[in-house]
Amino acid sequence: MDQQKIEAILKTLTLEEKASLCSGLTSWTTKPVEGKGVPSVFMADGPTGLRKEDREHEAENGGPSVRATCFPTEATLAGSWDPQLTRAVGEAIGAECRAHGVSTLLAPGVNIKRSPLCGRNFEYYAEDPLLAGKLAVGFIQGLRSQGVGCSLKHFACNSEETLRMSISSEVDERALHEIYLRAFEIAVKEARPSTVMCSYNRVNGVYAADNRELLTGVLREKWGFDGLVMSDWGAVNDRVQGIRAGLDLEMPGSGGVNDELIVQAIKDKALSEEELDTAVRRLLRFVFDCAESCTPVPCDYEAHHALAVRALEESAVLLKNNGVLPLKKGQKILFVGDMAEHPRYQGGGSSIVNARALESPLAAARRLGYEVSFARGWPGGDEDRQDAGLLREATAAAAAHDVTVLFLGLTDVYECEGYDRTHLSIPPSHTALLSALRAAGKPVAVVFSGGSPVELPWLDQADALLALYLGGEGVGQAACRLLWGEADPCGKLAETWPLSLSDTPAFHHYPMGPRYVSYNESIFVGYRYYDTVKAQVRFPFGYGLSYTSFAYSDLSAPESVGRGEELALRFSVTNTGGRAGAEICQCYVHHEAPSAFKAEQELAAFAKVFLRPGETRQVVLKLPARAFSFYLPAEQDFVVEQGRYELRVGPSSRELPLRAVVTVAGETSLRLPAAQLASSPYGSIRDNRFPDDWFETLHPLPARENRPAQRGEFDRTTPLGELAVTWPGRLMRRIAYRVGGASIRFVRSPRVNRRIVRRMTSEFPVKNTVLMSDGLIDYETADALLDVCNGRGGWKRLLCGLGAALKKLGRGG
Ligand code: BGC
Repeated sequence: MDQQKIEAILKTLTLEEKASLCSGLTSWTTKPVEGKGVPSVFMADGPTGLRKEDREHEAENGGPSVRATCFPTEATLAGSWDPQLTRAVGEAIGAECRAHGVSTLLAPGVNIKRSPLCGRNFEYYAEDPLLAGKLAVGFIQGLRSQGVGCSLKHFACNSEETLRMSISSEVDERALHEIYLRAFEIAVKEARPSTVMCSYNRVNGVYAADNRELLTGVLREKWGFDGLVMSDWGAVNDRVQGIRAGLDLEMPGSGGVNDELIVQAIKDKALSEEELDTAVRRLLRFVFDCAESCTPVPCDYEAHHALAVRALEESAVLLKNNGVLPLKKGQKILFVGDMAEHPRYQGGGSSIVNARALESPLAAARRLGYEVSFARGWPGGDEDRQDAGLLREATAAAAAHDVTVLFLGLTDVYECEGYDRTHLSIPPSHTALLSALRAAGKPVAVVFSGGSPVELPWLDQADALLALYLGGEGVGQAACRLLWGEADPCGKLAETWPLSLSDTPAFHHYPMGPRYVSYNESIFVGYRYYDTVKAQVRFPFGYGLSYTSFAYSDLSAPESVGRGEELALRFSVTNTGGRAGAEICQCYVHHEAPSAFKAEQELAAFAKVFLRPGETRQVVLKLPARAFSFYLPAEQDFVVEQGRYELRVGPSSRELPLRAVVTVAGETSLRLPAAQLASSPYGSIRDNRFPDDWFETLHPLPARENRPAQRGEFDRTTPLGELAVTWPGRLMRRIAYRVGGASIRFVRSPRVNRRIVRRMTSEFPVKNTVLMSDGLIDYETADALLDVCNGRGGWKRLLCGLGAALKKLGRGG
């Protein structure tokens, strides 16, 4: 729709109508304005597939949302290092959105994997922002090609689930721009997403939803974003400040409570109508752009299932193989583990898809004609129980077969949206089974399912390890094709697998809280840390095996490159093995003598090449000037320092056989503050301690103590769990738990779901009792509750407010 029409409609809207457009109608729709030509549009969750809630047809659908193709999760797809593949997946999900009249998919998520503990890592791509950003670009372009919008999320620094609705991520400016904002920047600049979703947390003390610096300064003014910013569900803090900051749409909506605040603020002249109009213009452009894609168009689910299978084949990572894989025809194969029959193929939370055509590895093997026997090994489900009988049965069966394939990994309860892991182990029943099978004396190939790395103290007992991550509904067929070598594994890790949790860079500062979490390791995230301190890791970033082999040769690069120029480097890759396969080639940049502290190396470019046996191809990688830059807080921009940079090329971050040095033109006399210098503590890190006094040279820590609020200190942002030291607080937490329990379905198991909801509602800030009660509870009542809990009276107002809420409930809302 053109701007003139938008202006014409805007003129017809009353103040109240304009304010009301700035929040959702339901959990998934925007508000229409009857008689003024403003339609309502529908949004639904991704990124693993379409999750369109449809509780009315729950029985028919076999789940609370419509049936849709469940693709491998983002963490899995990242193993492909292939934006063409994420594009194909985006296209398919876009087509399913069209089939269901969904105009915008709430995906992709590009938060950085700061720690493998983050419960939502399965929904994010990588520990490296270039890789995450490029994969997101492909996905968004795929959606856009179907006329479907996206919501790039969660902006920003939402790299943990713990206390995500109130915690402040304290990040220094360099890490913020080089690591945590970078993937967003790439996606915004290269794919022009229609919307961005702000995260729940605070960034350096200010809620993302109120953060003008982020939502306007960086996103719009620096990066040129011209779309709509919406809140994560219930992420609004101060709605009026949100409008000023650039938060256009509140989701889901607060039953009109916040709309009234906007109207009042304009009447009080605390907010200008022009500021509101800016948000409404963006909203109108968004809904009109979306309106067309609301018309349902049929789609080809069979083709999408086939794509889900291919996507996993191209993303799974073979981590170890002493020759047992691929399995050979004629071998007697035993599948062991409940996960062979009931695979874990997606993560829990708002991204959960009601998969159309899930097939287990066991069912696929049988359908495809591979002869396999099966032993369950442990009782299955979320319970981590060992069963001596099942274990004995599996071990005896293993002795009678040529090869055992053990399916193990993380169950639903281990990782989910809403909380973080506390360790990197898999269920002890799974490792016990591996030891027992090993004792049977036959080779054991392990197939791992899970959204994030685990510790592998048991790796020696496995002859092979194939990481499927969370493989989507095609997991069965893809696993079989990979195991029997019909498909060649070509995925590579988009994150480091550490030897142990205590080795990880954020170990001492994750997840912290309750008020803030400080990102003391600064830019040293993932391989940037391990490579700088030369730490041993289990499997490095970029690592992955194949059934064939590749050789690198003939690197050629220019000796120098001018200011702002792009650099092209060339090299050859040969398939030296006996099978066709694809190789993911990587180029890292190492700055030889930087003035500022830097990581040992950074990913600068990558490419995937498919090669037949014996074939050689020349690969050309193009490095933009940005590949040599770092963020200079004093300039509030990226700068390139003149100097010598080594280009390192090879199959993984730890195997880079081709090297060339290039002189890059740039700044010659950088004036850096002491804290940024290569001679500063961050220029010679040795381990992951990163003390606070170092960090404070980069970023001041909040003055407020990092402890729970106490009586007298409770405010609207206090989590209900903290308020629960008082009995009215406990009561409110209980009510929230009851209400939340009725609507939140994060995993299939009701028992696990209850546990998750209990935890989530404990972390609900008091403000969210207003935001999420659809107008039943107003701010006066929430404030009265706070007064009561703070010991400042307020009983009468609280009882009146609750009475009014009950009345409204009785009247049906
Ligand atoms: C999640 C978002 C999601 C939204 C709607 C939130 O809790 O953080 O990623 O899109 O819910 O389901």
